[in-house]
Amino acid sequence: MSDEGRFAAGWLSLRERADHLARSQSLTDRASDWLHRRASDDRALSLVDLGCGAASNPAYLAGRLPGPQHWRLIDHDPALLAQASSRLARLIDADGRPLEWHCERQPLTPLRPTLLDGADLVCASALFDLVSRKWAERLVQACVERRLAALFTLSVSGDWAFVDAQGQRREDAEDRWARATYQAHQYRDKGFGTALGGDAPATLAEAFEAHGYRASQAASPWRLPPGHAETRTLGSALLAGWGDALREQCPEARERVATWLAARHAALEGGELGIEVGHLDLFAEPGEGQP
Ligand SMILES: C[S@@+](CC[C@H](N)C(=O)[O-])C[C@H]1O[C@@H](n2cnc3c(N)ncnc32)[C@H](O)[C@@H]1O
Repeated sequence: MSDEGRFAAGWLSLRERADHLARSQSLTDRASDWLHRRASDDRALSLVDLGCGAASNPAYLAGRLPGPQHWRLIDHDPALLAQASSRLARLIDADGRPLEWHCERQPLTPLRPTLLDGADLVCASALFDLVSRKWAERLVQACVERRLAALFTLSVSGDWAFVDAQGQRREDAEDRWARATYQAHQYRDKGFGTALGGDAPATLAEAFEAHGYRASQAASPWRLPPGHAETRTLGSALLAGWGDALREQCPEARERVATWLAARHAALEGGELGIEVGHLDLFAEPGEGQP
């Protein structure tokens, strides 16, 4: 990841396997049921993916959801959109049909509610830690006004921990300091105003429920066990990102950060520790009895 909401394609591709393994199957099934109820013979189902990056979300969802599907992918990064477009050309829906799609280069700030016009399902993954409370509430309002369901996945909870081979947390005071400092950094403005960070999942769920929606959440943590190749590659990239955040948040603690990073890198490389990173998935749909 880099500054100003720009994400390196390498980072997004490195994390994709862990993302797809972590996602909630039951909430995906709920989204599928919702789309089955919306399906009609004379048009494709319309799905919007906000902050689509290189289309990891449609890559996971297309084959698990009914079709025919039309995807509208929104992002401000033209290089990621170019990758997304070439991926979409190779995807098929659950019935084996190719997708229709349209990639749009545009900023999500400010949110234009008309982005959701005509949609059946609005999706986003790994986006909401970046956004502000006001932006999230405006998005929920836009969904509610259009009676749309939403599938918002892989929102970081802000919790992460080093774990042993049994999945037990193994942490000391330095890990707790690093995590608290990282959590404080998450609230920094990422282009949307003061960021929600790990408060995003609860904020979204509460906003939907306040409008009479049924909001269901499921944990979708990355589980990177000690000694696995992916734990070393993705874990090293995670540590590097956490190190950047800690130095930015606490410039006076550079040595402390360097000492902590070196010890944790060695433990990952040596297969002594793995990492778990908390995320939450959310599916929200209009409540029963609502028009
Ligand atoms: C962590 S990435 C997630 C990408 C993708 N959804 C995935 O799961 O791999 C966040 C995405 O949001 C996009 N983004 C961030 N700020 C944005 C903004 N203000 N307007 C439009 N897109 C933005 C980034 O370009 C990036 O593709």
